[in-house]
Amino acid sequence: MSARKIIIDTDPGQDDAVAILLALASPEEIEVLGITAVAGNVPLPLTSKNARIVCELAGKHDVKVYAGCDRPLGRDLVTAEHVHGKTGLDGPVLPDPQMPLQEQHAVDFIIDTLRAHKPGTVTLCPLGPLTNIAMAFEKAPDIMDRVQEIVLMGGAYFEVGNITPAAEFNIYVDPQAAHIVFKSPAPKVVMPLDVTHKALVTKPRNDAFRALGTKVGIAVAEMTDFFERFDKEKYGSNGAPLHDPCVTAYLIKPELFSGRYINVEIETHSELTMGMTVADWWGVSGREANALFIGDVDADGFFDLLTERLARL
Ligand code: BDR
Ligand code: CA
Repeated sequence: MSARKIIIDTDPGQDDAVAILLALASPEEIEVLGITAVAGNVPLPLTSKNARIVCELAGKHDVKVYAGCDRPLGRDLVTAEHVHGKTGLDGPVLPDPQMPLQEQHAVDFIIDTLRAHKPGTVTLCPLGPLTNIAMAFEKAPDIMDRVQEIVLMGGAYFEVGNITPAAEFNIYVDPQAAHIVFKSPAPKVVMPLDVTHKALVTKPRNDAFRALGTKVGIAVAEMTDFFERFDKEKYGSNGAPLHDPCVTAYLIKPELFSGRYINVEIETHSELTMGMTVADWWGVSGREANALFIGDVDADGFFDLLTERLARL
């Protein structure tokens, strides 16, 4: 089978970084057509820089990185330095990137790429707020039917929220964009907190990254060391959840994951529950299913895959 063509839309972020590394380490299954940066964990100048730092860490200097939207569609930007640090990639000391940023806007790159490929052959992998994807759908509605699948990290049902009591960060930052994406006809797979909170970097898993002894293995161990202090304090968990790598792991080994095909709607009006993913897990609404909402992961299988692939870089 040929590699699946994807665009990674991202706001790195340590967990975004690991998701990108996993994709770049897996050319048999994944062909990265480009990486589009969006404002989220930190502002756009940093996310577009961090994306290139990560490509260079992987030794993949030829990946094309595009800068996209610097703010949500209709709200002020909310960032998460309290989780990811001032740079968004705090933890390891990594050199500034030498690779240039592409001149084209990320939204236009997404549109042109979907139009240039046969319908149903390009998958979108959003790992941050959905602003770039929604802008592309608004600007060029014809591309929605051309998307093979959107596999995204965002939302929560049983875990409810992380940035507010009701909402997960990526959806909360740009609920209008999320609404546009969830209403689109493109097939969707959602990795909510319900599953990512099961993908925890425990001490032995972190040790396994470090024991690779490579630049990449050590950097990933240092990133997750940094990132975990926040979740350990907040949830009392055994380590940091690797949210975004669930997306790229799903592309390689979907059998590690299980979920339900259900209706998911986005709250865009109530200030109290803004950005909530109202996920009809129990099938009580009668509303039409629009997304495969993942609930479980074989965490050991996930970390085995990740460690094995990172070792290749
Ligand atoms: C999501 O928010 C960001 O902080 C992470 O990178 C992840 O994409 C988790 O809520
Ligand atoms: Ca992210």
